[in-house]
Amino acid sequence: MKHLIAPSLLAADFSNLSSEIEMINQSEADWLHLDIMDGVFVPNISFGIPVLESIKDKCQKPMDVHLMIVEPDRYIDAFKNAGANIYNVHYEACTHLHRTVQSIHNAGMKAGVTLNPHTPVALLEDIISELDLVLLMSVNPGFGGQKFIENTYNKIEQLKELILKKNSRALIEIDGGVDNSNAKKLINTGADVLVAGSYVFKSKNPVETISLLKNF
Ligand code: DX5
Ligand code: ZN
Repeated sequence: MKHLIAPSLLAADFSNLSSEIEMINQSEADWLHLDIMDGVFVPNISFGIPVLESIKDKCQKPMDVHLMIVEPDRYIDAFKNAGANIYNVHYEACTHLHRTVQSIHNAGMKAGVTLNPHTPVALLEDIISELDLVLLMSVNPGFGGQKFIENTYNKIEQLKELILKKNSRALIEIDGGVDNSNAKKLINTGADVLVAGSYVFKSKNPVETISLLKNF
């Protein structure tokens, strides 16, 4: 499978949301990544359900929602109704992760589990076969534009090994500090999906930048 690109809307110009979505539609982006922050799980607040509602009929790409919130179980149906296709919850935010994953599937979405940089991959051993996706944070969640953490490569290798051992279908997605300096190495190490915020939206020609990340 060729790797997938998921631009993160967090770095977009929110005063021109329609044209940013149009740009995504015209580009080679595979998914649109949406960062939901509650100011409790992470030290920042981004946007929520009304924003998804307002773009769901315009956005032609699957919506990959990353919940940086406490108690993500409470909003599964609301995000599904707002157009979410993939629901990524943080391992660190879910006490009953197995139940959460079941609820996401019951709502008709793909289930992803996200790991903070300090959370060991091995903790996924007994849930990996239920997952469609594992999102590895390559920065501490909460802000765009941070420096990529090099230990991510080790985590990709460990995760790939676990996925193969457990015969899991889970894709490996990387989020934070992704640009053309690390994209190729990430894919060669075993990543399937790259999230990129600042690198795409702050570039002169975002459509071209997405194409650059997609084709190397
Ligand atoms: C960080 C978010 C990321 C962020 C990535 O908490 O989860 O998705 O938007 O932004 P960049 O690509 O600028 O690091
Ligand atoms: Zn994210």
